[in-house]
Formats: sequence, C-alpha cells, structure tokens
Amino acid sequence: MFIVLVFVIIIYPTVSKTDEIAALILARGGSKGVYLKNLQTVGGVSLLARTVHTARAAGLVDVTVSTDHPLIALEALKCGAHIFHRSKVTSSNVAPSIWGSLEFLDKNPGVRTLILLQATSPFTRASQIRLAVDAIKTNRFDCVFSVTRTFHLRWKENKKFVSPINFDLQFRPRRQSWRGELVETGAFYVARRSLLEAGYFQNHNCTVVEMSRLESLEIDSYWDLKLANVLSNSNLV
Ligand SMILES: *[C@@H]1O[C@H](CO)[C@@H](O)[C@H](O)[C@H]1NC(C)=O
Repeated sequence: MFIVLVFVIIIYPTVSKTDEIAALILARGGSKGVYLKNLQTVGGVSLLARTVHTARAAGLVDVTVSTDHPLIALEALKCGAHIFHRSKVTSSNVAPSIWGSLEFLDKNPGVRTLILLQATSPFTRASQIRLAVDAIKTNRFDCVFSVTRTFHLRWKENKKFVSPINFDLQFRPRRQSWRGELVETGAFYVARRSLLEAGYFQNHNCTVVEMSRLESLEIDSYWDLKLANVLSNSNLV
C-alpha cells in the first residue's frame, strides 16, 4: 500500500498550467503541533478536502496541492486536485511559503496570479475567495489577503512598565467611534507573479477581504481542532 502511494507521488506528472490564475495549497507532511494536520478532520472532512472544495465553490478550476507526503497526495487526488511534488527543501519546517510558491510558479510559467490557500483555516468561505479574485481582476491591486477586524487595546512591555500601543491613555477609543484594526488571518493570499518573483506576497498596493472572528479560526493545535469541530456542529460558522 505504502509503496503504491510513494509511486503515486513520485510518478504523478506535474501538470503544467497556462491559466491566468492558479490556486495552490501547500501541505507538507511534517507539520508541527498536530500530526499530519492537513488530514485531520473538521465536521468529518479533512482540512485539505475542505479547502479544495471551498476553492472549487469559489469558481477556481485549477487547484493544486503541493506536498511531500504520499497520504496527502492521495487525499488531494481523491478530491480531484492536481498534485505538485514538493521538494525536500521547500517542505522543511523552516521554509517560508514563498519558497513553495516560487517552486510551483517556476514549473508553471503560464500562471500570472497565484492564490495561496491555507488548509489550516477551515471556515474560509467561497464568497471570500471570490471577492479576492474579483479584486485582483480589477487590475487595481497587486495583492489581496484575508483579514479580520479586532477592537483590542494593545500594550507593549517596557521593562517593568507597560505602555499603550494603539490608543491614547487619555482618550480610550469607544468601540462605536473606532474602526478597529485589521489583523491577517492567514487564510489566503493572492499575489501577482511579478510580486512573488520579487520574493513577497504583499506590497503597498494590496487590498483585503474581511472575515468574521469565528471564520478566522486557524488550526495550530489539537485544542483548535476540537474547537473547530464544536463550531462546525453549531450554526455559528
Ligand atoms: C497597483 O497595482 C495595479 C495592478 O498591478 C497597477 O495597475 C497600479 O498602478 C498599482 N498602483 C500603485 C499605486 O502602485
């Protein structure tokens, strides 16, 4: 069985795409924190399959899973995604996502815009991905990414004291008169090829798509996984 799987991942041809926009999911086997994280399930569906389905529902036809692991490759095949054989170098736990993205772009010269989808954000909505694609298609931006809005009053540690970062002690903002702050959720990043080739997902010409706080839940630990399953059984997300 295992040998067959290894065969699948090594022999399965790299699909060369010429589309303008390609969706990529980087899913390495050696995840930290949660074992084979991308294959863990939320609501009975693996994180990987959820992400592929959401991408499809958003109208993205070409969805590629870049992986170094045979079981992840098999799961990707099962949901009809393309498989990209991720190298040892880009699947190490110190490799930044930009390496995995550049490796994919290098083999797919026709791709002009990349959407990096993170399988660790199980509640991303298809409509949010679609908004991001629509924004990049207006040709007004180089990049789009997902954020959530917070109203946290933040403090920085300064030796023995703490001082406010994003507000004035004399004028504590009231929620209704403050737009809050945007925090990256990590759910998706859309960027033009030229920006990625310069080594970045973002520049000063980005726009954002907002997600709710619950939709932004990221799976980093077994606790997150439990919470995600509770949420998926509720009607909150
Ligand atoms: C932002 O990106 C778009 C698309 O690449 C480009 O046409 C526009 O000139 C850029 N604007 C700025 C201020 O760089």
